[in-house]
Amino acid sequence: MAPATDDTTSALDALRAEVEACALCELHVTRTRGVPGEGDPGSDLMFVGEAPGYHEDQQGRPFVGQAGRLLQQLLAGIGLTREQVFIANVLKSRPPNNRDPRPEEIAACQPYLWRQIELIRPRVICTLGNFATKLLSGDPAGITRVHGRPQPMQVGGHSLYLFPIFHPAAALYTPAMLATLKEDFLRLPELLQSAPPGEGLAAPSSATAGTQPAAAPAPAPESAPAPASAPSPAASARVGEAEQLGLF
Ligand code: URA
Repeated sequence: MAPATDDTTSALDALRAEVEACALCELHVTRTRGVPGEGDPGSDLMFVGEAPGYHEDQQGRPFVGQAGRLLQQLLAGIGLTREQVFIANVLKSRPPNNRDPRPEEIAACQPYLWRQIELIRPRVICTLGNFATKLLSGDPAGITRVHGRPQPMQVGGHSLYLFPIFHPAAALYTPAMLATLKEDFLRLPELLQSAPPGEGLAAPSSATAGTQPAAAPAPAPESAPAPASAPSPAASARVGEAEQLGLF
């Protein structure tokens, strides 16, 4: 893991200020505080959840409630603290009563997330639950089908693995889901140690080749992982796309 450069840190600080003042969707009317995300900008591991809940909205920090405590326990199980990873969400503002994110909210907010990924350049993005997984994989397949399988992807020319797992908030109340979440989580150290997807393969024929299929480490239980196709940040603000992905 390389420490973040000053440029990365200042760009993330600027993004933080933008999120705190953001009025791009109606959620700014009901939120208490924007929740940009936090952690080590030089980390190899990034988590992406769904949206801030009550406690996150009060404190302006991601995953500080019950789901956050579980996330911290899971991290401790693989020898990490929350300060050593970067934690963000699809939405940076809380939906009233924790309702599901709406297409127009995701469309308005997702450029922030893509910018964070491009700045942090993690080796692994662990998506928590359906919303983050569908958005970042560009695939409508639900979390129950895809959890625990690394998916090679590229963001802004940077190769990484998307690693979908169950959302800790969902696992809190479902013992079987919690067991699966723990099992999947334990695969993270190996994935973090593995070569980035595509390394050792022939160079892509075009700079715009996008996602390259690669041999994923720690083979998935069933078939090989499907390459994820990341929507480019520039093409991100389309509500229709989100609907096609079956996000809603
Ligand atoms: N659930 C999320 O998806 N994000 C948070 O920040 C907290 C709970």
